[in-house]
Amino acid sequence: MCFRREPADRRFTQIFLLQHVQHQISRAADDIHIIDDLRDAAKAEAGQLKVDLEPISFRNVVVETMRPFHRQLEDKLQEIIINVPENLPLVLGDQTRLIQVVTNLVSNAHKYSPPESTITITAKVIQSDDEILTERNKNRKQKVKYSSPYLYCTVSDTGIGMSEDDLRKLFRERYFRSDDQRAKEQPGTGLGMMITQTIMQLHHGEIWVSSQLDVGTTFHLLIPLAPERELASD
Ligand SMILES: Nc1ncnc2c1ncn2[C@@H]1O[C@H](COP(=O)(O)OP(=O)(O)OP(=O)(O)O)[C@@H](O)[C@H]1O
Ligand SMILES: [Mg+2]
Repeated sequence: MCFRREPADRRFTQIFLLQHVQHQISRAADDIHIIDDLRDAAKAEAGQLKVDLEPISFRNVVVETMRPFHRQLEDKLQEIIINVPENLPLVLGDQTRLIQVVTNLVSNAHKYSPPESTITITAKVIQSDDEILTERNKNRKQKVKYSSPYLYCTVSDTGIGMSEDDLRKLFRERYFRSDDQRAKEQPGTGLGMMITQTIMQLHHGEIWVSSQLDVGTTFHLLIPLAPERELASD
C-alpha cells in the first residue's frame, strides 16, 4: 500500500525541520560564543588580552552592539531605551572590545530580567569629581578623584537583581555565578564579567555594579575620552 502525504503534513514536516535547523544553528552560535569567551578568559589570565586604542564613537559601539540583539529582545518582549546622544566626544577605545563589553552587559540584562521588562543604556560626559563618584565611593568605600573628563555609561535593567553577598563576589571571584535559582536557570559560564573587567582595565577605565534584589541592576562604565586634536597652527 502506498500513502501519499497531504500538503499540510508536508508543511508540518518542513516547519519542524526548519525549527530543528534553527535550533542547531543557535546552539552552534552559543558554542562558538563559549569557545571565544574561553580563549579570551585564558588570555586575560595570562595578561595577553590586547586592545588597540584609537579615537572612536561610543554611539557607534552601542548601535553595533544592538544590531544582533533586536530579535532576542523582541522574543522576550523586552523594551530597550537608548539614551546615548549623537554629539558625544570620541572615546579612546578598541571598537571590537567595547562592543564585547556592552554586549556582555546587555546580554546579562536580557537574561536576568523577566519578559516585558525594560533595559536602558545611557551615556554622558562627566567632569572630574562628579556626583556619580558618590555612588561609586559608597560601593568601593574609597575616595577617588579624576583629573580628566570621562564618558560615563550605564546599562540598567529591572530584573532579578543581586544580593549583597553576590555583589561582594562579582568581579572578585573567578567564574562567579549567583546561587539564585532564577539566575541558575539561565545559560552562562561566569566568564563574561571577568573578561569585561579586564577589557575595561586595558582601557584605563572602570566598571562597577549597583543592584537591589528583586528590583534591578545597573552596570556603570567610565571610559577615557580621546584627547582633543590640536589645531594645526602654521
Ligand atoms: N544584570 C544582572 N542581573 C542579575 N544578575 C546578574 C546580572 N549580571 C550578572 N549577574 C550575575 O553575575 C553572574 C556573572 O555574570 P557573567 O556575565 O560573568 O556570567 P554569566 O552571565 O553567568 O555567563 P556568561 O559567561 O555567558 O556571560 C551571573 O551568573 C549572574 O548571577
Ligand atoms: Mg553574562
